Amino acid sequence: MEITNVMEYKAIAKQKLPKMVYDYYASGAEDQWTLKENREAFSRILFRPRILIDVSRIDMATTVLGFKISMPIMIAPTAMQKMAHPEGEYATARAASAAGTIMTLSSWATSSVEEVASTGPGIRFFQLYVYKDRNVVAQLVRRAERAGFKAIALTVDTPRLGRREADIKNRFTLPPFLTLKNFEGLDLGRMDGTNDSGLASYVAGQIDRSLSWKDVKWLQTITSMPILVKGVLTAEDTRLAIQNGAAGIIVSNHGARQLDYVPATITALEEVVRAARGQVPVFLDGGVRRGTDVFKALALGASGVFIGRPVVFSLAAEGEAGVRRVLQMLRDEFELTMALSGCTSLKEITRSHIVTEADLHR
Ligand code: FNR
Repeated sequence: MEITNVMEYKAIAKQKLPKMVYDYYASGAEDQWTLKENREAFSRILFRPRILIDVSRIDMATTVLGFKISMPIMIAPTAMQKMAHPEGEYATARAASAAGTIMTLSSWATSSVEEVASTGPGIRFFQLYVYKDRNVVAQLVRRAERAGFKAIALTVDTPRLGRREADIKNRFTLPPFLTLKNFEGLDLGRMDGTNDSGLASYVAGQIDRSLSWKDVKWLQTITSMPILVKGVLTAEDTRLAIQNGAAGIIVSNHGARQLDYVPATITALEEVVRAARGQVPVFLDGGVRRGTDVFKALALGASGVFIGRPVVFSLAAEGEAGVRRVLQMLRDEFELTMALSGCTSLKEITRSHIVTEADLHR
């Protein structure tokens, strides 16, 4: 059967994957209200397309933290990709590189920073979870830098793991033939089975709940990589992130897997963009499944977007070819959206190309 959009991979992944794995990838926290809202909020934003503009040539290229990429669509960190496909993060890295875009590798990858670097050239960011043991963190950051990673995406929305009820019911744990490769030599690579979510217990044991802005400063003393603060949803925290040296902000609700009933990221985006006042770039992830979603995020001021679940679902279905196809479909849809709304380059995408609910209530 021919696949015509990114969302179709979800059903294929559901058929192929063990229930425990599929549920871990698909779930949100608690009532999963935010999970649904991450998609629905996009559908409440409409276009104001402009006509009779020469769109015979369209340029989607952009620059992120000084790195040139082919399109403003990048790969978010998602943990444990070898549960989806034996090639896991290797396949994702190769697909991102082939598409000329950035992959973010999760701290909890089933392939190490060195292994991912060995797949060949490519611009890669490293997502960081801060462990209680700061020596572990410092070592890992140095390894990422040595392996050629270009930036740190510091995840700040996970002092504890959100309550994902499917994982609790399934007693989710990492299959025994896999490890969290970055931590293998540090004796932190395994996740014990418990009578809860194994990941929730792992986080409770290892991740530092005391993480605060002073640690963002500390990180800057141990690395020269720029730091993107991932998980900002308010103007207040945007200002603090900038004051504390962030090189950029990722508006994210962790794919609705942490605090339920936070707004959709596309709803929170404009507040963050305003507070950033152009001082640092603002990115978005959460529910991006269509080229029109990418356009809407850019119209609201994002410099680019990241995708999470479509990567693991397409990996499960078709490995590297699936991830390539996801990136290609989003690229094609985004290009078409630009053409049909009268934009030939990213800088031509403006706030007046869309209308939000907030506009209608003004
Ligand atoms: C994630 N996310 C995530 N974030 C992070 O900072 N570190 C991580 O290890 C993970 N792992 C992870 C696993 C899975 C299965 C999912 C679905 C998500 C969150 C991820 O980076 C991103 O914020 C969301 O996935 C974006 O939303 P969509 O595109 O999945 O809707």
